[in-house]
Amino acid sequence: MVNNLNKKQLSESRIISIEKKALDIYRYRLTAPNISQSARSGNFINVEVPHCEEIMWRRPFSIHNSQPDAGTFDILFAAIGRGTHALLKNKPGDSLNIIGPLGNSFDYPDDLQEAIIVAGGIGIAPFLLMMQELPTKDIKKSIFYGAGTREQLCCLDDFEKTNAEIHISTDDGSAGYKGFITDILNDYLASLTSTTGKQLYVCGPTPMMVKVQQLAKQYNISAQVTVENVMACGFGACMGCPVPMANPPHDGKKYLLACKDGPVFNMNEINLND
Ligand code: FES
Repeated sequence: MVNNLNKKQLSESRIISIEKKALDIYRYRLTAPNISQSARSGNFINVEVPHCEEIMWRRPFSIHNSQPDAGTFDILFAAIGRGTHALLKNKPGDSLNIIGPLGNSFDYPDDLQEAIIVAGGIGIAPFLLMMQELPTKDIKKSIFYGAGTREQLCCLDDFEKTNAEIHISTDDGSAGYKGFITDILNDYLASLTSTTGKQLYVCGPTPMMVKVQQLAKQYNISAQVTVENVMACGFGACMGCPVPMANPPHDGKKYLLACKDGPVFNMNEINLND
């Protein structure tokens, strides 16, 4: 994984636009030339929540996309808690206090032939930037994206502009396959004659990630996952974002830090069941 911690910066960032992308899911475009030019897929920013004095801690958001020439970047978030609802009180032109880019990023091995992205819900956020980073030729991109209903699927228009092959599932069958995205991922992996040069990139709810971890073992395919812990400081100071290690040494540390060691991990490095 590539660590971007040294490039972190505290800054005031202006909101350029606010767009509703799906049910309860919003995209903010923000100014920050240093972030737009150096962010990699997997990096995040930590945002001071405005309009809400009782929220002391910053909120982390994956970097969703960037426009380096304009000096802007995007975050995508689900408005499901007090912090994110407070964020929605902002208007274009307002400023946010942010730190970033933080954390490490996804890694692309030299022999990568196919990036297989597995995303559940708002876990789709980091992968539009990944589409920008991966070369348009030579590397196949397959996206397996699941959500509760059609209304919760977001940014399909953006992903359709890339040359990725897109597989969709919804819990209620209102779009794509009815059921879990890991069901159709399983069918896909079973159909492959070889997993050489293929890599899974994963973000989503824990049960989905646990299932992908099982499939990665079953089909002997490498997987990288980005975790969505609460991250108050964002750079290793508060110790508030522990991720249990899969095989901790008997006399050593048992946890990694999502913000400093991650948020991207090799899937076999961490224990998702703890
Ligand atoms: Fe403070 Fe990770 S968020 S140590």
